Formats: sequence, structure tokens, C-alpha cells
Amino acid sequence: METVVSGIRSTGNLHLGNYYGAVRNFLKMQTENNCYFFIADYHSLTTHPKPEDIHENIKQVLAEYLACGIDPEIATVYVQSDIPEVTELYLLLNMNAYVGELERTSSFKEKIRKHPDNINAGLLTYPVLMAADIIIHKANKVPVGKDQEQHLEMTRRFARRFNMLYEVDCFPEPVAYNFGHELIKIPGLDGTGKMGKSEGNGIFLSDPPQVIRKKVMSAVTDAGPTTMGQEMSEPVKNLFTIMNVVSDQSTVKYFTDKHASCEIRYGDLKKQLAEDIIRATDPIRNRINDILTDNKYLSKVVREGGEKARESASKTIREVREILGYRPF
Ligand code: TRP
Repeated sequence: METVVSGIRSTGNLHLGNYYGAVRNFLKMQTENNCYFFIADYHSLTTHPKPEDIHENIKQVLAEYLACGIDPEIATVYVQSDIPEVTELYLLLNMNAYVGELERTSSFKEKIRKHPDNINAGLLTYPVLMAADIIIHKANKVPVGKDQEQHLEMTRRFARRFNMLYEVDCFPEPVAYNFGHELIKIPGLDGTGKMGKSEGNGIFLSDPPQVIRKKVMSAVTDAGPTTMGQEMSEPVKNLFTIMNVVSDQSTVKYFTDKHASCEIRYGDLKKQLAEDIIRATDPIRNRINDILTDNKYLSKVVREGGEKARESASKTIREVREILGYRPF
């Protein structure tokens, strides 16, 4: 059985992009692989969340994971900060990660651009912590969205570098995984770019129907096609991309044809899209609300998951320490 690791940062509710880009793949994988799914709460510290929010943020993502169908009886579900071995491996990997390569990472460069006032070392070494998350369990496959491809590439590089440096075959090189077809990118509702947690352009799994309708109805479109078979503008294409994952193919075809013949009314398209998103997310939203009230269940999940994750992590750390040359007195 292959080992699968993936994590989601606890920086806000899961949105459609997280669900279709990542979590839905987790569900397909959990029965056939040795899966570790965790809440990347340390990764969320780069933006300095308030102490009074930390616990609630973790709890929310955990409940949402479980509501989506991740089964803690099959997969190991845990909180990153419950596994000190991860931070130990992060420290050790940092010694062989070069500042130059970290500075060249796209996600780091983007952060510099967006938040020049908070360029902390945690942001710089974000990919190292992520590599530690992954290789601590010697993962082979990492189901993630397209935006994480470069981080995965760096993970492979760190794993390979460690193996070469110490002439060992300790870590496999994990690959980004997404069931055969291309990695899915769910766009936002604001016309450009991907759906993000902090961009204000997303639909959350916990959004009630009236909120979903309102968000979709105010999504950016264009003035409408004027010539037959005209190419779609990016904002419109984006709505179709979302429709492609939540609606029936016949619905997608209906509106695609309407666009091609210049008869499309974006209001109708949006109404249909909103209802199809609601249909897809409603059962999940109901389960989120149930699970959030069940503290006993949540605490059992993280306790048992944490134990299993530590077992695997401490095995790797023991091996790594020995490779590095540490011996007991
Ligand atoms: N960087 C990922 C994101 O932003 C979250 C993450 C942290 C992760 N550690 C990971 C994903 C390990 C997969 C594996 O979404």
C-alpha cells in the first residue's frame, strides 16, 4: 500500500476550491492507501492569527474535513502541532535548504508583493515545513491543488538531497496526485485568479443557501457575446469551470450552446449555477454543523489520529537521527 499525505491550513473555512481541488481526492484515496490527513495549523502562523482564534480555526477545519467524508477509522487524521517530530525534521531539513532556492519560490515572491510588511522567516521556510509534513511519513503521493505543484517539487528536491548527502535511501520522492487528469483549479467569482480563502471571492462549504445565491449572483461576468461562437472572456469561462464540477454535463452544454449562439442570459446561468452549488454542498454543510457540536467525537478523533501519526513520525525521526550520526550515550 502506498502512503498518502496531505494537509490543509487552518486559516478559514474550506471553500469549493479546497473541496474539488483536494478533499474530494482524499476521499477517493483513503480506502486504497495508507492516508495521513492533517490540519496545517503551524503553517497558518505566518499571518499571526490571534491566540483566541487558533483553537476555533483548527476545530472548524477538522469538522469540515470529517463532514466531507474523511473517515478517521480508515485515514489518520491529526493536527500538525500535535506532532513535535514534524518540527524536528523541519529544523534538520532547514540545514540543507538554501536561502536562494527558498527566495525563488513563487509563493514567497507573491507574499512579498502582497504583504511587504510581514516577510518573516517562517514564510521563507514554508516549503521546508511542508516537506517535513510529507516526508515524515515517507509519503509517495500528495493530493493537492495545482497551486502546490512547486512546493511538491521542492519536497522532492529536499528528499533527494538528503538521500544523496548521506548516501541513503531514506525518503521516497513524493508526487502531486490527482486521479489521472490534470490538477483542478477552481477559479474565484471575481473574474480572475483562483478561489482563495482570503481573497473574498470564494464559496465556503459552510455557506448557507442564501449566501451562496447572493455570492453567485454578484459574480463578475461581461457585457455578453456579440458574435456567434465568440470565445468566452475569463470571468465567464470561470463560471463555466465551476459549473463543470457541480452541474450535470447537459446543463453545461445547454449554457455553452447559448453562449455560442449569443442567446445566453448570465442571470439564468448564475441562478442555475447557484442551485447546483447548493445541491452539491448542502449535505456537507448540515454535517459540519452536527459535528461542530460534538466535542467528544472531535477530541477522540485528534487523540487517536495524533497517536497514530506520532508512531509513524517518531520512527522516521529515529532513523534520521541515526543517519545524521546521533548515538545514545
Ligand atoms: N501548503 C498547503 C496549502 O497551502 C498546505 C500544506 C501544508 C500541505 N503542509 C502540507 C499540503 C503537506 C500537502 C502536504 O494548501
